[in-house]
Amino acid sequence: MWICKAPANIALIKYMGKHSGNIPCNVSLSYTLSEFTTEVKLAQKNIADEFFSEELSEHEREKFLKHLAYIKKLCNFRGYFSINSKNSFPKSVGIASSASSFAALTMCAFKAISEINGNSMPSVEYMSAVSRVGSGSSCRSFFAPWCIWRGEYATNINIPIDVEHELIFISGRRKEISSSEAHERVKTSLLAQGRFERAEKRCDYLITALTKGEWKSAYQICWEEFFDMHALFETSDPHFGYILPKTLEALIKIREFWEKYNDGPLVTIDAGPNIHLLWRKEGNNKSDLCLRKKFHQLLS
Ligand code: DP6
Repeated sequence: MWICKAPANIALIKYMGKHSGNIPCNVSLSYTLSEFTTEVKLAQKNIADEFFSEELSEHEREKFLKHLAYIKKLCNFRGYFSINSKNSFPKSVGIASSASSFAALTMCAFKAISEINGNSMPSVEYMSAVSRVGSGSSCRSFFAPWCIWRGEYATNINIPIDVEHELIFISGRRKEISSSEAHERVKTSLLAQGRFERAEKRCDYLITALTKGEWKSAYQICWEEFFDMHALFETSDPHFGYILPKTLEALIKIREFWEKYNDGPLVTIDAGPNIHLLWRKEGNNKSDLCLRKKFHQLLS
């Protein structure tokens, strides 16, 4: 039996729009969520690959098996596996598990096949690129704490700032439009024109802001970026969306908080209603903790 664990990640500059093989139309930048992981177990079997996980839909299971078949083909491997996958976080928290689950499956499949064949493991860069073919955003889960992904390859990026992730949980309802479908639909939006250039520019600005410690600028860029992606969703034909009234309510409070204290967390929202915050950790000093306390009082 082989076991591998991989983390989820949250993008501050979003991957939305792709070419075949899940090659992104623009650069993306993510923070790896080490506390949200998927563990995959593979065991050798005789007849056919088989998948067990209560956490995935029928469609997701098919995608998983297809990805395993792809890796076996790459490795010229003819055996079979049973696959078990388990998230460290409950389904109801509304965090997309596709990045962590595809990354964990990819690592585990290479680990198992390399051991059986007596080969050494491929490089992390190669496994990340293979994982990308299964689900694009999973290629970023191979690098921590920060990852930049452009074209076929994702890689580490050194951002000299320590942050802590927090989730504002709004709803755990399964999304009606999958991110794969969203990638297709956004092509119909009139706002799609210029989107990739905007994301590229923002990525440069964000890296500069984070590197120079210009926290407020970083907050402004992240805010513009997630609203840009959600505006694409809302202006597609047919339009769709993930933001719920409670999401908006919390966003307005976050904005008011920033206006009042001229400080606060970075904010982003993925293809779902939940809000991800990144807090700056400056040695966990008292003023940071005090700010977070005030924030939670305001939100409650
Ligand atoms: C909104 O990686 O789920 O989370 O490549 O089709 O599997 P596929 O899509 P997926 O897209 C994630 C899109 C996003 C933004 C992001 O993570 O960058």
